[in-house]
Amino acid sequence: MEVDFLVIGSGIAGLSFALKVAEYGKVCVLTKAAADEGSTKYAQGGIAAVIYDTDSFDKHIQDTLIAGAGICDEDTVRMTITEAPDRIKELIRYGIRFDKRPDGLYDLHREGGHSNFRILHHKDNTGAEVERGLLEEVRNHPNITLSEHHYAVEIITQHHLGQWVTHHTPDIECYGAYVLNSQTKKVETYLAKITMLATGGIGNVYTTTTNPITATGDGVAMVHRARGKVSDMEFVQFHPTSLYNPGERPAFLITEAMRGAGAILKDAHGNEFMQKYDQRLSLAPRDIVARAIDNEMKISGAEHLYLDARHLGKSVLMESFPNIYAKCLELGINIAKDMIPIRPAAHYQCGGIVVDKNGESSIHHLYAAGECSRTGLHGGNRLASNSLLEAIVYAHNAAMDAIEKVKNISVRHDIPSWNAEGMVFNEEMVLITQTRKELQELMSNYVGIVRSNLRLKRAYDRLSLIYKETEDLYNRSVLTEELSELRNLIACAYLIIRAATQRQESIGLHYSVDYPPQK
Ligand code: FAD
Ligand code: SIN
Repeated sequence: MEVDFLVIGSGIAGLSFALKVAEYGKVCVLTKAAADEGSTKYAQGGIAAVIYDTDSFDKHIQDTLIAGAGICDEDTVRMTITEAPDRIKELIRYGIRFDKRPDGLYDLHREGGHSNFRILHHKDNTGAEVERGLLEEVRNHPNITLSEHHYAVEIITQHHLGQWVTHHTPDIECYGAYVLNSQTKKVETYLAKITMLATGGIGNVYTTTTNPITATGDGVAMVHRARGKVSDMEFVQFHPTSLYNPGERPAFLITEAMRGAGAILKDAHGNEFMQKYDQRLSLAPRDIVARAIDNEMKISGAEHLYLDARHLGKSVLMESFPNIYAKCLELGINIAKDMIPIRPAAHYQCGGIVVDKNGESSIHHLYAAGECSRTGLHGGNRLASNSLLEAIVYAHNAAMDAIEKVKNISVRHDIPSWNAEGMVFNEEMVLITQTRKELQELMSNYVGIVRSNLRLKRAYDRLSLIYKETEDLYNRSVLTEELSELRNLIACAYLIIRAATQRQESIGLHYSVDYPPQK
């Protein structure tokens, strides 16, 4: 297969990029699952943007910088927030619907860390509406091929031409990707002038996550192995309120917009506790709220705490949060009468593949957008509902840059096929499933919301063993998606532990008991 633009991932980032470059060449969008499977579909709260003059760019910028613990890239923040209204208008032109009030104005929600009501939403399933609209456009575009159940294994660089590539090699180039076709079980070569990684997050590094099964950090791991730059991996965001329903994977999210509407966090005895931690109470930034819940659970030994939304009333709950209402009812929880059992869950990766303002990575002809990228917008902690926004802004900027650059790039035809010689079928899935569980447990127990030097060292030692065993298995086995994903999860876990160990302070989402934060 040979194309101008190869897009890996069919969430908001990949689809937005594909639609923009499709007028300028042949595009192939690959996705390892069904087209709509990815975090985008599950997004509930919405997209943050300054829409009316009751709000201002400066306020949104300040809120983002404060949530980011002072280590955001300020230029990136300003650029993203000021470009937001144009990108939102495009979504609306694609036919994506955001809720309006009876007076015709957009019904804006508010979430933790926001000083204003500025979250555009569609009920409590904004992501599903965004994914629907974008997929419809992509499917109707004559220049775009969408291939489901195609799993990108590695990006192709000089390394595959037999050249020695290190982290110091100055001009690493990307020529496309090796892709496992789930139907034929063969690894195919996809050659491209430009490759876009839009592979989403890493939630499955942890035992409890709101992320779908697709979130295994494939893009980040591929770039790391190709010796590209990855950064800020220590900043893993835990969402404070996932529904406590042991065994359910992914964990169902209770949107922060519910706290924005007035729902209150309570302990097992029905008492409020956030006043002990932050004057913004239940609407403090996510890192603070998640740590507070973690601490309350540790002190009391409780498996979960509660979110109390009863006082909002049945009609508001059913109208604004219909999916949450229905989901809880299915489990026997009537949220108009009962408190909702909640606990934190791994939710979002703030770091990732380092990109510049045009979304280009440190590897030439390779772009990244969406959750797999590190733009500098989030700093130490992402402000709620800024990630869908980041994805559309960077998909746009990357497209504008790629449209210019593609004119001077040729496809390389000297790329060797994937070499599977001498590999044998791995007959024992347990070697993969058990290792995956071990990895998730060690990351949850030692590299979760609260860390320490000792826990990080333990995690690293155990991960080293898991890494070695898995590489041995990989080097003798016919490639499968499960094995490749396990390698990617291990690579991401390694990057998180390494970054957390190097950061000898508590800041944003990285909190270590060995480095109490400055008061
Ligand atoms: P995704 O939508 O995750 O898409 C990744 C794509 O890459 C998928 O198609 C996947 O199959 C594909 N892929 C991955 N690896 C490979 C591979 N090796 N080969 C081929 N394909 C591959 N953010 C907000 O701003 N507002 C919200 O309200 C909000 N709510 C959220 C609620 C939940 C429950 C979750 C999980 C996240 C939420 N987020 C929210 C975060 C936001 O949804 C994600 O950050 C965003 O959707 C990521 O988009 P993406 O395009 O980068 O990745
Ligand atoms: C939520 O709806 O609480 C999630 C919002 C986000 O992750 O940005």
